Formats: sequence, C-alpha cells, structure tokens
Amino acid sequence: MSKQALMMSALSGALLLASGLAVAVEPERTPQRGVTLPDAPPARGDGTGRGGTITPTADGQAALEDHRQLATMPEKARAIMRIDMQDHLVALNEIFGYLAENNLAAASETAEKRLGNSSMGRHAMMARGQGPGRFMPETMRQLGWGMHDVASEFALVVKSGDAARTYTALQKVTSGCVACHMSFRTR
Ligand code: HEC
Repeated sequence: MSKQALMMSALSGALLLASGLAVAVEPERTPQRGVTLPDAPPARGDGTGRGGTITPTADGQAALEDHRQLATMPEKARAIMRIDMQDHLVALNEIFGYLAENNLAAASETAEKRLGNSSMGRHAMMARGQGPGRFMPETMRQLGWGMHDVASEFALVVKSGDAARTYTALQKVTSGCVACHMSFRTR
C-alpha cells in the first residue's frame, strides 16, 4: 500500500469510528431481473457481450480488455449517432421525471417520439441517406431496432397505470441500451 493510500484508509477508519459506525456494510449485489449478462464474454458482437472486462492475469495484474466489436462508420454518421445517443439518455432521464410526477401521458409521448419506432431516422435526415444505421453490422442494427420496439411497447404499457408492468417494460428499454453498449463501439 502506498503512503497516500495508507493515510486515506487510516483517515476513513478514523471517520468511521468518529461517526459511531463500527462496521462498513458492503451493500449486497443482487442480480437484476430481466438483464441476464453471461459470466464470460461470449463471441464478439452477438449482442450479449460484456465490454471492458477486467481479466486477471497469471501474475495477479488486471489487464483491461475491450471485447466490443468495432463498427466503423464515416465521421458524419458517427456524429449523428452521438446526437441520437445523447438524446436517448436525456429522454430516459425525462421519462423517470414524468414517472415520479405520475405524468404517464408525457412519459408515453417522450418514449414513443424520442426512443420508440417514431424516433428512427430523426437525425439521419441531415445525412441524406448516410445515417448511422446503414453502416451498422447486422447484429447491431437488429439491437437498435429491438430497442426502438421495446420503447414503443413501453409507451403503450405506461398508459395502463400498472407500476409493475411499467417498470418491467422500462427495464427492457435500458436492457436494449446495455446489450448494444456491451457489444459494439464505434472507435
Ligand atoms: C444499436 C446499438 C446501440 C443502442 C441500442 C444504444 N446505443 Fe448508445 N451508443 C452505441 C455506441 C456504439 C456508442 C459509442 C460507443 C463508443 O464507440 O465509444 C454509444 C454511445 C452512447 C452515448 C455516449 C454519447 C457521447 O456523448 O459520445 C450515450 C449517452 C448513449 N450511447 C446512450 C444510449 C441510451 C440511453 C440508449 C438506450 C435508450 C442507447 N444508447 C442505446 C450504441 C447503441
């Protein structure tokens, strides 16, 4: 342990004692329902792979490996994809906000328009047929379509007002993000 790390652990130990906490409890990790990621990284690009797996080596050092398949695309297509992706993230965040407010209509509309099938090609228009979709390997394109499908499904389910079904449907959407992110990279 380095001198600095020692000092940090001594300091955090002292803080723990001072706050009267005798044990630092590690939260138990429970597997998420619906997302079943394999233990070992499978073949590249099959849609279930884990990216950036830390593989312990014989000498105990951890080697950082990126198992994602590279999907090369022209600069413009990649830029459009980035805009889409950022909007996906913002849309998800807005959906959580609407759910908290119980504004189911807005959650549904945001999901359909920004993540669902209605969102496809929203920015690709700028590219005149040079949108990211055509440069994706087949599996990646399928994962993209799958994500749009489950987002459209969520847009319907959320209107039912059934919380359990709503969250199950929402997790299908985030699983779509996860599956592709664990399998593909663009650079
Ligand atoms: C079809 C595959 C695919 C799907 C589905 C997908 N993504 Fe991505 N996303 C990517 C790839 C590939 C990158 C670029 C990763 C890289 O090359 O570093 C990316 C990048 C991103 C980024 C980073 C953008 C930046 O600032 O550079 C965000 C944020 C993101 N995705 C959010 C999402 C969210 C949220 C979802 C689900 C609602 C989602 N993505 C679904 C493939 C996908």
